[in-house]
Amino acid sequence: MMTNRKEMLLILFALGGDTWFINPCEQSLGYLLVDNGFDGWVGNVRGTRWSKNHTSFSVHDKEFWDWSWQELAQYDLLAILSYINLKTQSKVIYGTIMGLTAFTLPEVVELIDSAALLCPISYLNHLTARFVRRAVALHHDQMLQNRGIHQLNFRSNTGIQILDSLCGDEYIDCNNMLSSITGTNCCFNESRVEYYLEYEPHPSSTKK
Ligand SMILES: *[C@@H]1O[C@H](CO)[C@@H](O)[C@H](O)[C@H]1NC(C)=O
Ligand SMILES: *[C@@H]1O[C@H](CO)[C@@H](O)[C@H](O)[C@H]1NC(C)=O
Repeated sequence: MMTNRKEMLLILFALGGDTWFINPCEQSLGYLLVDNGFDGWVGNVRGTRWSKNHTSFSVHDKEFWDWSWQELAQYDLLAILSYINLKTQSKVIYGTIMGLTAFTLPEVVELIDSAALLCPISYLNHLTARFVRRAVALHHDQMLQNRGIHQLNFRSNTGIQILDSLCGDEYIDCNNMLSSITGTNCCFNESRVEYYLEYEPHPSSTKK
């Protein structure tokens, strides 16, 4: 993993890094990049199953979840890039959806050689996924925070109640949970959904 001859490539999703490996090897970006000669690094975003440790707070503390895109780019991404740079003395090729926030920060840009922004998030106006549109229209994030819910975990009892409240009519087809969040997708393999759901979605902050 630590050779200087290869190009360093970091892929970072908004949630857990396992996302890049849950299809078969020949279809998963994580494996494909390594097979094509890159030194692949994968980041896990805080709050996910792989990143729950904290020096002073636990996942039960509201402070643990008090962050959004800004902090992910400003602190976490910078820490990840700095770590790769320290280990490899290389700048990084960066594939991510967190790009736009990141590129407002000169110290982050400094560590990046080039970037492929995969659906970078900036504004949500053009989003077509009905589930997400409804959550936004109802100011669901604010509502949850007012109820003292800071961890958004669709696998918990609270998460299931949230889903029920958002899926309460025929307008939103929550039988197809993944596509109601992601929108329709040409290339989605329906027969793998059960398998995806063993790993996804990871918990995240309500604020994000
Ligand atoms: C969690 O953090 C504590 C304090 O920084 C550290 O001692 C411990 O080794 C960490 N555990 C894991 C699993 O990283
Ligand atoms: C979809 O997933 C199933 C189950 O893993 C697999 O057998 C099939 O080959 C996949 N289809 C495509 C088009 O990749």
